[in-house]
Amino acid sequence: MTANNSFVHENLISKRASKRSNARTSSAATEDAPAGFEPHPKPLALHRGMPNAGFFPIDSIDVNLVEYPFQKSLSIPITNASVESFFPDEKSVSRTNTVTIKKVDDPEYVDISTALQYGSVAGIPQLLQFTQEFINRVHKPAFEDWDTVITSGAGDGLIKAANLLLDAGDVILVEEFTFTPFLENIEDVGGIPVPIKLNLDKDSGKELGLDVEYLSDLLANWETEKPGLPFPKALYVIPSGQNPIGTTQSIETRKKVYKLAEKYDFAIIEDDVYGYLTLRPFQKPASIFKLNDFLEVDDFIANHITPSYLTIDKSGRVIRIETFSKLFAPGLRLGFIVAHKRVTTVIKNYASDVTRSASGTSQLIVQNVIAKKFGGVDGWLQWILKLRITYSHRKDLLLNQIFESAAYKKGFLEVIDPTAGMFVSVFIKLAKGVDAQAKLKLLNYKFKNFGVGVIPGITRTVDKKFSEDRSNFYRLTFAPAEDDNEITEAGQRFVEAVEDFFEKGLEY
Ligand SMILES: Cc1ncc(COP(=O)(O)O)c(C=O)c1O
Repeated sequence: MTANNSFVHENLISKRASKRSNARTSSAATEDAPAGFEPHPKPLALHRGMPNAGFFPIDSIDVNLVEYPFQKSLSIPITNASVESFFPDEKSVSRTNTVTIKKVDDPEYVDISTALQYGSVAGIPQLLQFTQEFINRVHKPAFEDWDTVITSGAGDGLIKAANLLLDAGDVILVEEFTFTPFLENIEDVGGIPVPIKLNLDKDSGKELGLDVEYLSDLLANWETEKPGLPFPKALYVIPSGQNPIGTTQSIETRKKVYKLAEKYDFAIIEDDVYGYLTLRPFQKPASIFKLNDFLEVDDFIANHITPSYLTIDKSGRVIRIETFSKLFAPGLRLGFIVAHKRVTTVIKNYASDVTRSASGTSQLIVQNVIAKKFGGVDGWLQWILKLRITYSHRKDLLLNQIFESAAYKKGFLEVIDPTAGMFVSVFIKLAKGVDAQAKLKLLNYKFKNFGVGVIPGITRTVDKKFSEDRSNFYRLTFAPAEDDNEITEAGQRFVEAVEDFFEKGLEY
């Protein structure tokens, strides 16, 4: 990092960080040693209240894995799913589907005696190293002094980011439709979320999602637009597979937003929990499920995953939130943060007061499965490619159901085909002058009556009034369905409910 960048970063911590964060220090005791003091090279521990691993009831764990999602339940024919086609070069990787986790193991792996012991606040070193290799491979930051810290999932990462930056009365910019639990985190620290308009108009000719022009104008005219409010300290974005809209910001948009962050000196919290789950553009679902479309990992990284804000961050102002929830399993409660070392240090100080380390069992499972079965970063990306193709197939099933429907053909609906993530937003086309929110509320009852659960857009707003005109959509997801039939059936119920609603003149 250059001196100038250090200075900017110094600002992020000393000027942009909350008073709470700046006041927090490491809890390690420091004592004044007498002159000539030499610590013993191998002290024995009578001071730490940690049970020896011999007290643990577990000696080893066998984790039995599948080769691909739904391996045991996929009902339609599949093709080219052989192990070799997925791991052509990984000779060292276990060919069996069992990963054995030992009480004591080689230093390359996390063993039971380490993982089930009290652990480092930063995370277990082998997993931390994996996260760093992973970020280096996929989203190498444009500044040098970055680090990772393990969290208990993205939700925990977000709480820590809010705590890091915001004092009571501080302003944070948030996309107008968002992951609403983060609004609670902002409220908890007394922050004030200010919505940023999203462009949802397909006819506008502009990229869908965050409206950069709106953001730029708002910042340029802050004092007149938001009289009495302090200048924003941060922007919170979900740049890929946006929840709830499903849009993904192009790298050009990210560069423009970053430029504004540099100009107006605010931090960017990048919540990229869906960034690796890229999706193919819609294609009619085939009757044979092609499990492998032979996308190479290099091609996946270069041409499918949109680079993180970190890759354009020269001054260490980006705080990237990652999770294993969407790629491995949400119940692990495991994720990580990537940010400047000074930011991760402050986050670790906070973590040592609240969560301490993330679950050792979760770290144990994830690190061993990735190291022993997938063979590291590229093998992990190959697993993600299998998720990608399975999610793409599911998304196509749902979209196909919509595109083939009378409701769609009659123009009652419009859809955004997402290029990442788990969400499809479906817009209901209501004529001008109709009381849209009253009608959408009624329609939601119709969905319940037809037996399909959806999320009304209005429930995902920062400010209902601000977003009323753009809230004429429902968020649908193809993630939780048991199988393909459930997706097509749910899609069918959805479109039939819409058609019925319009046929009855927008009445229940
Ligand atoms: C945008 C976004 N951020 C964060 C999370 C929380 O993820 P985690 O399970 O890792 O806490 C979710 C989960 O739905 C999400 O959609």
